[in-house]
Amino acid sequence: MNRREFFGWVSVGAVASSLPVAIATFLPDSHNSANAETPETNRSFTIAQSSGFKSVGTVASLDKDGQILNKKSPVGSVLVIRNPNDSNSLIAVNPTCPHEGCTVKWKKSEKYFDCPCHDAEFAPDGKVLKGPAKKPLATYQAKIEGNSVVVKAG
Ligand code: FES
Repeated sequence: MNRREFFGWVSVGAVASSLPVAIATFLPDSHNSANAETPETNRSFTIAQSSGFKSVGTVASLDKDGQILNKKSPVGSVLVIRNPNDSNSLIAVNPTCPHEGCTVKWKKSEKYFDCPCHDAEFAPDGKVLKGPAKKPLATYQAKIEGNSVVVKAG
């Protein structure tokens, strides 16, 4: 390679490596413009989505009904309540009874989940209080993001 060829390759390399920066400079700033036009609830939803949490309902619905029962949520069937011992935190379980698959109900005044089929009872953390169920209810992580109640499996 002679000197002329060498400098020719260096110039091509310099142009090629700076091309992405040049393109980014001339594109509209989609990140900032999206935030400027995105309502707070959508931004919270995006944050929740990125951390693995999925929206299953609204805080207004939770407070109006005392629970959110969403059998077709993005994480599967879920029942969310406010923690009876700390109303600032949430509890989310899979309401499918591990005995034979009935849907448990939250008994707010008694503070346990009740299965209407064979009377199994589960503590707010999902543990079995009374059989015939032998396994606990599956649980989710749950929290409030903006106006949404969000849950995450595991
Ligand atoms: S299905 Fe729940 S106790 Fe039997």
